[in-house]
Amino acid sequence: MRADTAIMTQVNDKISTRIDGDIGFICSNNPPVNALGQAVRAGVVEALEALNADPAVKAIVLYCEGRTFFAGADITEFNKPRVPPTIQEMILALENSPKPVIAAIHGTALGGGFETALGCPFRVAIPSAKVGLPEINLGLFAGGGGTQRLPRIIGPEKALEFVLSGKPVSAAQALALGILDAVEEGAPDAIGAAFARRVIDEKLTAVPVSRRDDKIAATRADPSAFDALAAKLTARSKGQEAPAANVASVRRSFTLPFDEAMAIDAEANRALMAGSQSRALRHLFFAEREAARIPGLPEGAKARDVAKAAIIGAGTMGGGIAMCFAGAGIPVAVIDTTQEALDRGMERVRTNYATSVKRGSISQAQMDERLALITPAVDRAAVADADVVIEAVFEDMAVKQEIFADIEKRVKPGTVLASNTSALDVDEIASVLERPGDFVGMHFFSPANVMKLLEVVKAAKTSPEAILTAMAVGRRIGKMPILSGNCDGFIGNRMVAKRSAQAERLLQQGAFPQQVDAALTNLGFPMGPLTTNDMSGLDIGYSIRKRRGTPFPIADAIVESGQLGQKTGSGYYRYEPGDRTPRPNPQTEALILETSKRLGIERRDMSESEMVERLLFPLINEGARIIEEGIALRPSDVDLVWINGYGWPRHLGGPMFHADEAGLPHIVARLRAFAADTPGDPSLQPAALLVELAEKGQGFSEWQKSRAAN
Ligand code: COA
Repeated sequence: MRADTAIMTQVNDKISTRIDGDIGFICSNNPPVNALGQAVRAGVVEALEALNADPAVKAIVLYCEGRTFFAGADITEFNKPRVPPTIQEMILALENSPKPVIAAIHGTALGGGFETALGCPFRVAIPSAKVGLPEINLGLFAGGGGTQRLPRIIGPEKALEFVLSGKPVSAAQALALGILDAVEEGAPDAIGAAFARRVIDEKLTAVPVSRRDDKIAATRADPSAFDALAAKLTARSKGQEAPAANVASVRRSFTLPFDEAMAIDAEANRALMAGSQSRALRHLFFAEREAARIPGLPEGAKARDVAKAAIIGAGTMGGGIAMCFAGAGIPVAVIDTTQEALDRGMERVRTNYATSVKRGSISQAQMDERLALITPAVDRAAVADADVVIEAVFEDMAVKQEIFADIEKRVKPGTVLASNTSALDVDEIASVLERPGDFVGMHFFSPANVMKLLEVVKAAKTSPEAILTAMAVGRRIGKMPILSGNCDGFIGNRMVAKRSAQAERLLQQGAFPQQVDAALTNLGFPMGPLTTNDMSGLDIGYSIRKRRGTPFPIADAIVESGQLGQKTGSGYYRYEPGDRTPRPNPQTEALILETSKRLGIERRDMSESEMVERLLFPLINEGARIIEEGIALRPSDVDLVWINGYGWPRHLGGPMFHADEAGLPHIVARLRAFAADTPGDPSLQPAALLVELAEKGQGFSEWQKSRAAN
């Protein structure tokens, strides 16, 4: 579209302008995602002034080079002093421009980027573009006028759904909602110019969005539907600040004049940004991107292509893993020893899919497509053309070793051989292999088709290519892969063991199950640790403790009384038939009292804050050891393990983030007190790294940054 006559002017290193006939263009080039940093904002304002001052220009197209239209405010500027012009000021300049501005969108116009487009009188996009206000995912709301302008285009109720979901919508959906004026194939500047032509020739005008009233008038007259919707959509966001702040801000769109609402928005968003919840969510945004980087691998090491997969074991885990591959469009063989086991496994997969169809999360056609990608087989020969084979059979070393020794002979060279073990030594499994470099742990979490966490476990001889392949295929099948070294329990379960030990001790010393669980659910955890144990089955932990000779007197007594959790109708709690609501269990409470007595422990009242610290600080301490031993690459990886696999609420950032917020000196002092109180448990002594950082007045986050910089 760039005519030869167009003269390009570089406004600054991010923004340029050109004029082609009577159309002016403002172009941003700020890789990777055209974030609206200060130079971009200042450049856009300056370019706009220049084009408005040029009498030849009749309409202006705003577009971006590279992979996307502005993908939002520059998140890295959030912690720094603001340098004008602000996004709000830039958007007002666009909205009040004497010459009409057409935003021409490609890629993802998100947050401040979408708000910029909403400020332009006209908006066009290419079909693959998406627009959205994902600020809620960062603990904020769209403070650049998104929560004020969007309701004026699509009505407050739809706007509320839009901002609370945080999910982008497609260009076609945006067009249908009236957010876009046109969707056309072509280069962004070309479709922008074509629309500008129409604006000029047909003398199209648009009332600036901030001055429109028609879509908000009905809600202003009767907000009851809005309020009911707000209550429904925020019912499950207990303890989170951002959902309520989004509701309040959208509400201001129909209760206050635009300028007043904007002024309050600015204050409210500033407060959210300074708060710990938004800090936590921003921390996770960067943590998720950082987790894919594996330092220290040889240059040129690459993931291998994965076109086909095979799973050994058609149990709940194997079937769930197969569903992940099928969901990503990768053909997968599921292999088990008997037809009966396979049939049972495939039936479970079918039932899971049918439930998703019923819920509307996938269509019947998608279910059929996915099922067609899963091939059941009784013969291990089905691994022959797989690029990755994942073993998901029960935890028995001899069985796993036999499987790997056998399939190694049946696969192509270079096929990655992975074990889903959660409890066995990956080096011992790999010891039977002739090509241990191709072996890696891939520890999925149950239910594997739902849980996002994938611990990729590096055995001593795992090759860089096998690590990279497991990490890459993990992302492809929708998981959050985190690299872990080999140790008992890897990252997550090794830490959770410390929490379980504390939960047991709290029960011995005076608490009842509902108090222990409430300490964490009141913080925002979806489920307490003892309810979780009841759900998974108490026999699992029992048999591990027996094997290791580490008794938990109360937990063991519950199992020995025949109560195994939900599956037997009672455990820490009692369950009514067909109902998973945990209710106080008098039989277990009696067992708890008896056990305390037998152990000679005088039961005492405990505050909720004591229980929280006892449940969380020892696991944080173990996290610090896992980091200092190099089992986890970095503190933020440990946070992601807990967020994606153990129900740690996102707005609380994960254990190592929480440690920084609580203050490491406080944690060290509390751990020393716990250790003094429990002489038999040396693991409660604060980890060396924790003590070192506390003494230096640093946090894990600073430590991670300083290591990344070196
Ligand atoms: N500010 C600063 N940096 C940003 C950014 C932003 N708004 N959005 C993305 N980046 C950075 C990422 O950190 C990453 O940097 P890295 O390569 O150093 O890790 C890089 O841009 C590419 O982002 P990535 O997410 O890896 O690319 P993608 O193509 O998978 O996704 C987006 C692109 C835009 C969809 C995604 O980055 C995103 O959702 N960004 C946040 C958008 C947002 O929340 N905007 C509202 C902020 S107010």
